Amino acid sequence: MKRSKVVLVTGGSGFIGSSFIRYGLKSIDWCHSLINLDLLTYAAHPRNLNEVEQDPRYHFVKGDICDQELVEKLCTDKQVDMIVHFAAETHVDRSIVNPYPFFHTNVGGTLALLEVVRKHPHIHFHHISTDEVYGSLSHEGTFSEQSPYCPNSPYAASKAASDHFVHAYAHTYGLSVTLSHCTNNFGPCQHVEKFIPRMLASCVHQKPLPIYGTGENIRDWLFVDDHSQAVWTILEKGKKGEVYDIGGECEKRNIDVIHDLIDMLDQPSLRELIMFIPDRPGHDLRYAINCRKIKEELGWEPRYDFRAGMRDTIAWYLNHPERLVTT
Ligand SMILES: NC(=O)c1ccc[n+]([C@@H]2O[C@H](COP(=O)([O-])OP(=O)(O)OC[C@H]3O[C@@H](n4cnc5c(N)ncnc54)[C@H](O)[C@@H]3O)[C@@H](O)[C@H]2O)c1
Repeated sequence: MKRSKVVLVTGGSGFIGSSFIRYGLKSIDWCHSLINLDLLTYAAHPRNLNEVEQDPRYHFVKGDICDQELVEKLCTDKQVDMIVHFAAETHVDRSIVNPYPFFHTNVGGTLALLEVVRKHPHIHFHHISTDEVYGSLSHEGTFSEQSPYCPNSPYAASKAASDHFVHAYAHTYGLSVTLSHCTNNFGPCQHVEKFIPRMLASCVHQKPLPIYGTGENIRDWLFVDDHSQAVWTILEKGKKGEVYDIGGECEKRNIDVIHDLIDMLDQPSLRELIMFIPDRPGHDLRYAINCRKIKEELGWEPRYDFRAGMRDTIAWYLNHPERLVTT
């Protein structure tokens, strides 16, 4: 591998992309230059990357991944070696209200990027996907790289479609790709509409804590920096054409996440604010990932356990109360 790489990150101003960029600039010596292409939708936050803005290796470009001409010009001008594709519409509830932006960005945007790579096949393409493409588990079993696709929400369907295009382009045009499916992430800089920041906002503002159904839905939680580290590990050691599933081996019922949060805030009276609301349509019961492959083949291990990650997350939000403002 050429030692020094130019990496184009899409969606780097969002939650996971910004962690990936901060992590890379701090810890990855072979990353010579990092370009963040982000449209700055409602989901981005201008201050997510404050700490790297002065770094001469970091470059920000405001733009749309669907704009193939722009992406191609960037790849040529900056001599991009790899694209790491995070940009997406990501909120399941929004996808239920209006699936079209999900189709446009997640499917159309990925296709536009793949077209650029088709013209410049020396560029490696890493696609960030989700465990939600596999659908819902009962109380038994886990998902792995071999699990069949069975997306249930419009968000998951759009991510699944984008995955299929990545595989098809690799197969048909011989492109160099890797793909990862990750479980639910948590950590600093996540948009307040997502589950953990929303619950924390309600706790801080002493407002009702709305929880879908009976709170029995189970998610497998991973601290965001562990996801970032996993993706950098795949870029460094992963095999071309391979899929890697990334998980926290930390399954929790939604109701238990809220109880943990309240315990860590040490405010037991907040339990009185828990309010069960009608379930999300088509709500998947359980996600869980078997991440043996990335652990055994690439030597990746999560560094944070749930409580350590939550302590950092809570501390960060309490230091950034403006990020807990809901509309
Ligand atoms: N959050 C999770 O728990 C989780 C879990 C597994 C996989 N993922 C995947 O990881 C990726 C990042 O998720 P996230 O939670 O950080 O998302 P996010 O919503 O926080 O950020 C998305 C970013 O993409 C940008 N963006 C959206 N449309 C764009 C476009 N057309 N052109 C350029 N930029 C655009 C937004 O401005 C934003 O900065 C997504 O692909 C998501 O499917 C997320």
